[in-house]
Amino acid sequence: MRSSTFLLASLASSTVSAETVLGAYIFSRHGDRTAKSTPPTVLTDLGYQEIFTSGSYYRSRYVASDASRPIHGLASDIVKLSQITASAPVDNVLQASGIGFLQGLYPPVGETLGSQTLRNGTVVQTPLNGFQLLPLQVVQNGANSENAAWLQGSTNCANAQVSSNNYLQSSQYNKTLAATSDFYAGMYPYVERTFAQNQTTFKNAYTIFDLLNVADIHNSSISLPSDADFFQLRTLADQHEFGLAYNESEPIRAVTGSIIAAEVTQALNGTITGKGKNVLNIQFGAYAGMLSYFGLANLTAASTDFFGVPDYASSLVWELVTNATVSNTSYPTEEDISVRFYFHNGTTSNISEPIEFPLFGTGRSPLPWSEFIASTGKFSIGTQAQWCTACGNSTGVCSPTALGDGSSSSVGTSSSDGGSGHHGGISKAVAGVIGAMVTLAVILGLELLFFLVGGFRLVSKKRLARNTGNGSVPSTAAETKA
Ligand SMILES: *[C@@H]1O[C@H](CO)[C@@H](O)[C@H](O)[C@H]1NC(C)=O
Ligand SMILES: *[C@@H]1O[C@H](CO)[C@@H](O)[C@H](O)[C@H]1NC(C)=O
Ligand SMILES: *[C@@H]1O[C@H](CO)[C@@H](O)[C@H](O)[C@H]1NC(C)=O
Ligand SMILES: *[C@@H]1O[C@H](CO)[C@@H](O)[C@H](O)[C@H]1NC(C)=O
Ligand SMILES: *[C@@H]1O[C@H](CO)[C@@H](O)[C@H](O)[C@H]1NC(C)=O
Ligand SMILES: *[C@@H]1O[C@H](CO)[C@@H](O)[C@H](O)[C@H]1NC(C)=O
Ligand SMILES: *[C@@H]1O[C@H](CO)[C@@H](O)[C@H](O)[C@H]1NC(C)=O
Ligand SMILES: *[C@@H]1O[C@H](CO)[C@@H](O)[C@H](O)[C@H]1NC(C)=O
Ligand SMILES: *[C@@H]1O[C@H](CO)[C@@H](O)[C@H](O)[C@H]1NC(C)=O
Ligand SMILES: *[C@@H]1O[C@H](CO)[C@@H](O)[C@H](O)[C@H]1NC(C)=O
Ligand SMILES: *[C@@H]1O[C@H](CO)[C@@H](O)[C@H](O)[C@H]1NC(C)=O
Ligand SMILES: *[C@@H]1O[C@H](CO)[C@@H](O)[C@H](O)[C@H]1NC(C)=O
Repeated sequence: MRSSTFLLASLASSTVSAETVLGAYIFSRHGDRTAKSTPPTVLTDLGYQEIFTSGSYYRSRYVASDASRPIHGLASDIVKLSQITASAPVDNVLQASGIGFLQGLYPPVGETLGSQTLRNGTVVQTPLNGFQLLPLQVVQNGANSENAAWLQGSTNCANAQVSSNNYLQSSQYNKTLAATSDFYAGMYPYVERTFAQNQTTFKNAYTIFDLLNVADIHNSSISLPSDADFFQLRTLADQHEFGLAYNESEPIRAVTGSIIAAEVTQALNGTITGKGKNVLNIQFGAYAGMLSYFGLANLTAASTDFFGVPDYASSLVWELVTNATVSNTSYPTEEDISVRFYFHNGTTSNISEPIEFPLFGTGRSPLPWSEFIASTGKFSIGTQAQWCTACGNSTGVCSPTALGDGSSSSVGTSSSDGGSGHHGGISKAVAGVIGAMVTLAVILGLELLFFLVGGFRLVSKKRLARNTGNGSVPSTAAETKA
């Protein structure tokens, strides 16, 4: 009995160690930030710590010399820039998060490694104890996306705009709007400095939740709704955002997720075709694209949690894995390569690691590379021409002259291998420009209001007590990161 258990255990550990990770793509949300209703939105110290912790975790998983799932061939201390591609949009919160994450991934190497000897014999130390400089490529998705109430406000995709607006006309939306009007009226005293009475409705479910969530984390001098009400606010915000991000019968609504999917397959394909030259890709982005991907990849079938907005510093990870021998002289063929998908809700650390989920409602993981490609191909949007067709746009970058003779048209530099050329994909820059979704007039109006009123103030306890006719200060909600 004992010995057979032991045999199983040793078999299990030998198969685990037999599997080689060839590469990975990490898509991460930013860390804790200030509220969207108080622009400019910035990464907080807490957010910096969260994202640094996640970066350190991924170091201990993929990079360190004693990593738990080392990526084959990846340099462990001194970064080899050809192996890594990191990107983020032009956005304070996302850029800062990217830098914080990379600090954790490749921390300062100290005086010994962090020095060089010049021709004349002088030894030069790098500043900050061997701090390493990792470039962050820019994804242009409109200025300051974390400043925008609705992240997908700058997508420019005509059909996606129509589709998301359809959600706001749907019977599901109308029903929830009506059913929650009393609830939101009760929340008005908590947000009255920022939202007008007639704006404190399900229509602004996310920005209302966001405002109170930030206050809950940061502001000890503010009274907040009860735990139960807070949970309700979060759940309604989840429902609202998922409704805008994905609908099975209108896949174009999830255009951001389609673009992420294409970026992931292009980068992982680059790892395979380059036989391990570029092996680690990291992209920073907003929760909306994550929700769209969750819908498209049918992750909601794997867990209903995927209907909810991921917490700060959440990450999606796609790993390329193989059981074939990998060495300097032999690289596995595509038939021997599979993909594992992982997700972690919130800051990842060695006490809270990513969880593996089956993609596409298959109930299986890993998926063979060919199956992953085929299933992703059903919804990915990877070229400008595809995008124009799907979005129904035909002018500007989508005019026949701009597109040239079609499908392989790509703009800008490659996203996956350090800029060595065109891959027939949408460039990072273009993907970013189109990588968000809808303009919601309502929310733009709201932003204008913030602007006119000159910023956000939360209700003081005194004022709240006066308004509610009740001096008690409700306790804060316990689990409220968003
Ligand atoms: C060596 O070269 C560096 C850089 O040019 C210079 O700063 C340094 O003074 C030189 N050291 C000596 C001993 O010449
Ligand atoms: C696509 O069409 C929409 C609606 O006409 C327009 O607002 C948007 O600017 C267009 N996008 C591009 C990239 O041309
Ligand atoms: C939802 O309400 C809007 C505005 O009142 C209306 O235009 C729309 O037709 C309603 N949708 C449904 C499905 O009833
Ligand atoms: C909300 O109320 C204000 C006046 O209090 C009014 O000017 C505005 O048009 C209303 N907005 C909506 C969406 O009803
Ligand atoms: C998806 O959109 C269709 C058509 O607009 C609508 O009937 C359906 O209720 C939506 N589904 C969900 C889950 O929102
Ligand atoms: C992978 O890259 C190769 C070489 O660039 C290309 O021929 C192939 O079509 C790509 N495959 C996919 C699934 O993108
Ligand atoms: C993440 O966690 C929050 C609660 O902290 C939950 O509401 C949400 O559904 C979760 N999202 C995912 C994608 O797991
Ligand atoms: C490697 O082999 C183990 C044991 O058979 C299996 O569990 C795992 O899924 C395999 N990995 C791949 C990438 O095929
Ligand atoms: C494989 O390549 C690495 C780095 O290029 C080198 O250090 C190592 O000695 C090589 N191993 C073999 C077995 O050739
Ligand atoms: C987790 O990380 C912390 C901080 O880096 C470290 O002190 C600790 O030993 C790690 N624990 C495990 C189980 O790896
Ligand atoms: C998602 O997966 C479930 C379970 O396999 C399946 O029943 C459902 O049809 C899938 N949905 C889509 C949109 O593929
Ligand atoms: C907390 O809220 C009060 C009242 O709105 C505000 O004056 C104060 O600046 C806030 N403090 C922080 C740390 O945000």
